[in-house]
Amino acid sequence: MSKLIQAIRGMNDLLPNETAAWQRVEATARGVLEAYGYREIRVPLLEKTELFARSIGQHTDIVAKEMYTFADRNGESLTLRPEATAGIVRAGIEGGFLHNQVQRLWCAGAMFRHERPQKGRYRQFHQIDVEAFGLEGPDIDVELILLGTRLWDALGIRELTLEINSLGTPESRQVYREQLIGYFKSRQAELDDDSVRRIELNPLRILDSKNPQMREVIARAPSLLDYLDDASRVHFENFQSRLDKAGLRYVVSNRLVRGLDYYTRTVFEWTSAQLGAQATVCGGGRYDGLVEQLGGKPTPAIGFALGLERLVQLLIQQDLVAAPEGPRVYIAVVGETVEAEGMGLAESLRDGGITALCNCGGGNLKSQLRRADKAGARFALILGEDESRKQVVTVKDLRRDSAQRGIPQAEILSYLKQQLE
Ligand code: HAM
Repeated sequence: MSKLIQAIRGMNDLLPNETAAWQRVEATARGVLEAYGYREIRVPLLEKTELFARSIGQHTDIVAKEMYTFADRNGESLTLRPEATAGIVRAGIEGGFLHNQVQRLWCAGAMFRHERPQKGRYRQFHQIDVEAFGLEGPDIDVELILLGTRLWDALGIRELTLEINSLGTPESRQVYREQLIGYFKSRQAELDDDSVRRIELNPLRILDSKNPQMREVIARAPSLLDYLDDASRVHFENFQSRLDKAGLRYVVSNRLVRGLDYYTRTVFEWTSAQLGAQATVCGGGRYDGLVEQLGGKPTPAIGFALGLERLVQLLIQQDLVAAPEGPRVYIAVVGETVEAEGMGLAESLRDGGITALCNCGGGNLKSQLRRADKAGARFALILGEDESRKQVVTVKDLRRDSAQRGIPQAEILSYLKQQLE
């Protein structure tokens, strides 16, 4: 026997008994996004490596060690998208639909990061990504929070915490960065190896460390909010007062820095205490400099992405996934001569809006009824030579122990509709 080929580590199959929960999230999200006037955009899974290096940042974990990068047959360095924002900005600049325009866009699909797989963290995962371009005031920041909140409510998800912070401008952050480097150097002996490596390269990320032994060092670090420039401070205050007016609950967390370099001003994350180490269900923020940085005209922008695996996990944990519905009707065809007639009957039921499975692969009545049961059908319709001759069909209610009934084929659709009401 030849050796079994297994899936790539961290890349999951979504099996048929799992897809119902995914479809529920996707359909609900689509409805909520439409209600806010967001339009779908689809961008390629592969982009030039440089796009991600220039936007996400050379010294972020994503670019430094997590990208699936390879040379294609022409020797060009390409990368499987680790996130959607960079590709959407590239598409917007290239398509000329960002400059001097307001765009509300969303994109869903697979992303790829070579992280160490664990519960809630995979190498292929899925995001729904939401972006708004051309608006610089905090009103759009609030709109995005309202949109996210409406989605959690529509799904019935409880107990998410919204954390917010402001990262200011690149200039104000530079001043803060230097202070932070000085502080961490003075306490270098108390940092873990990863953090020591980050001191010069990406000191803000040290604030994000989950290492309990560094809690005290991090708690005493200078706060980014003390270094905000005036305009960013006003923006952040305005954002908060608008959240208050909208009745939205949040926690200001000056340790929230995010893992991508393009952010400016507002950043936010929704987390759940029920997800263990990978607690962030959704994260995002403003990136007012990115469009220009990638060669476009200056365009303010803000967005977020939610992780579908984590969201689905929450739905399961909070018991919010309904069992998938089977077909309403299973047609048992007894005898080769009536098989075509059975298929025709199934088609006419589907024309009438009833989900129907028609037995394939033969078998006696008993085994066909077993299949009907297994498929989760409510009714079995039995079509044998005798029924065919009389142009009737025998109806068996699989959930109730009622007697079987012969119904004329011409009336079967209306009969079933009445029964299924
Ligand atoms: P991110 O924080 O890197 O942001 O990812 C957003 C969400 O994707 C996370 O909160 C998490 O739910 C999910 N996620 C990330 N990595 C993994 C993984 N390895 N396995 C499972 N789920 C994962 C971004 O990607 C930004 N592009 C968001 C954004 C849009 N900012 C502005 N616009």
